[in-house]
Amino acid sequence: MAHQSDLIAEDIYSYLKTQEEKDMLRFITCGSVDDGKSTLIGRLLWDSKLIFEDQLVALEVDSKRVGTQGDDIDYALLLDGLQAEREQGITIDVAYRFFSTDKRKFIVADTPGHEQYTRNMVTGASTADVAIILIDARKGVLTQTRRHSYLASLVGIRKVLVAINKMDLVDYSATTYEKICEEYESFAEQLDFESVTCVPISALKGDNIIAPSAHTHWYHGPSLMAYLETVKVEDAALTAPFRMPVQWVNRPDLDFRGFAGTVASGTIRPGDELTVTSSGQTSSVSRIVTMDGDLEEAVAGQAITLTLNDEIDVSRGDLLTDPLARPAHADQFVAHLVWMHEETLLPGRSYLLKAGATTVPAQITELKYKVNVNTLEHQAGKTLKLNEIGVCNISLGKALSFDPYKENRATGNFILIDRITNATVGAGMIDFALRRATNIHWQALDVDKRSRSLIKNQKASVLWFTGLSGAGKSTIANLVEKRLLALGKHTYLLDGDNVRHGLNKDLGFTDADRVENIRRVAETAKLFVEAGLIVLVSFISPFRSERGMAREILDEGEFFEVYVSTSLEVCENRDVKGLYKKARAGQLQNFTGIDSDYEVPENPEITVDAGVFSAEALADEIVQAILGDGYVDEFQEGTER
Ligand code: ADX
Repeated sequence: MAHQSDLIAEDIYSYLKTQEEKDMLRFITCGSVDDGKSTLIGRLLWDSKLIFEDQLVALEVDSKRVGTQGDDIDYALLLDGLQAEREQGITIDVAYRFFSTDKRKFIVADTPGHEQYTRNMVTGASTADVAIILIDARKGVLTQTRRHSYLASLVGIRKVLVAINKMDLVDYSATTYEKICEEYESFAEQLDFESVTCVPISALKGDNIIAPSAHTHWYHGPSLMAYLETVKVEDAALTAPFRMPVQWVNRPDLDFRGFAGTVASGTIRPGDELTVTSSGQTSSVSRIVTMDGDLEEAVAGQAITLTLNDEIDVSRGDLLTDPLARPAHADQFVAHLVWMHEETLLPGRSYLLKAGATTVPAQITELKYKVNVNTLEHQAGKTLKLNEIGVCNISLGKALSFDPYKENRATGNFILIDRITNATVGAGMIDFALRRATNIHWQALDVDKRSRSLIKNQKASVLWFTGLSGAGKSTIANLVEKRLLALGKHTYLLDGDNVRHGLNKDLGFTDADRVENIRRVAETAKLFVEAGLIVLVSFISPFRSERGMAREILDEGEFFEVYVSTSLEVCENRDVKGLYKKARAGQLQNFTGIDSDYEVPENPEITVDAGVFSAEALADEIVQAILGDGYVDEFQEGTER
């Protein structure tokens, strides 16, 4: 192995040039520290000599001082050193290490092996071509081996190297090695791997790491490094059909209209036909523009701007694709979802789904099953917790263009984002489109919301009362409705306790049920607004996310949020229904304010405190506010409001 650092010192430019020309292999190592993962990566970094000189010296010193290998070098220390570095950086979930040999450049994603790090492994593996699965020769195929293999297969890794490590501790026994290989291969049949290659190694002693080992004369396959240097990884992104999500439309002047983005897969040349999947419109490529001039061809990974020969509608987020191999375009699909957040998944909640350059609202409409990552069994479940994986139906606010993940990793993946905190809560791989909804179209109706409201001499809207149980929501809402009725308004009051006797009688008080409760009520309120009514909604509605969703499905100026901010203490002292007492006594679970959250509104249209003022006075105040802000009266030109 050439000592790379010599070349860096002597001629940095020729070093960089040779680096540039070498191809790149991305791999992930799966296993825990006990399997010898740190030692293996440490040795690979050491033998490729792309470690900073000061780290080399420190390693030699540390090995003597605290190492576990006598006077020999303890390669694990190198990784543990890097790991300590990593543990300080709270935001770094996956450590990527770069090294190179004469033949190839490598990026290794090093992720912790325990089950609580499933999300890290999925992140690290999602761009890898090869997975090295480490097995301790003394222990054989373990639960974690199965988990790591399943995850590698799930994220689309097709080549696996099974490194059967610590062969020195089983006297380099061919029988032990073969037994493990057989067991692994029969297990791997149910996964989607293209090739499984077993190598007997000792990361510690260096057997079959770089060169064939004299201890394993019975083994005739490649060393681990020889495998990494020669394994053919066809870049699936290059051979897949052309896809490019439009990041932005570049229109500096009237003569130029270019669509900028990074080619996600395939190849494109001037003259090639393109389709915008959302509209089905087709044109052909005029120019491929880059900072360094026009190109004759662009391939996956390149950032380009395309100009087309026809004026067709293309906007940010659209997917430009090969017209002969179009992606799916649908607003529902089935996907494998990895949950990545401490807050559990709430089916029915509206999350944001980001795929390529598009972000759309999305709901998990059905969790079909959870996958036990250790046994691969399917389990029934209503929700996903951190690091759990499930197969679910996802429904989008707007149709999206995508491919099944197995056909195209770049256009088949997505992340889910919490609308309030902006945190990434899930990562998904699309299995296939669901076409059911595509046969349901909006029926155009001649009589619309506005005409229905005008005949009632009002503007339809929603007055949304939120607050703790016993805060006074229903009392105040009832008074407001009476006042509006007296003003000749047509109203309807949706009250939590009442709706839960009918439409929502199948729902309880878990977070998931409350999300569904509010989703249904918001949709009902929207229908009543369509009917031209002024709708009063009185529900605890404890979560910002669902109140936000209710606001969003209505038009601008139709949602008036009333936060009844009466304190928990006052509510509890009143305890009109005796429920707080029960909750404190542990006879009632998930009670809002006691053992279930209430998220205070951030920007309500009005806040009132029924602990301080009378319900009558507050009802007057609210009616004044909505009349003043034009929530219930249609403003017509030429008329006084
Ligand atoms: S919400 O949280 O899903 O919006 P909703 O307004 O429909 O709640 O129902 C709240 C009413 O249900 C309360 O006023 C109370 O009478 C009753 N209730 C019964 N159990 C609970 C509970 N665990 N938490 C809150 N309210 C409860």
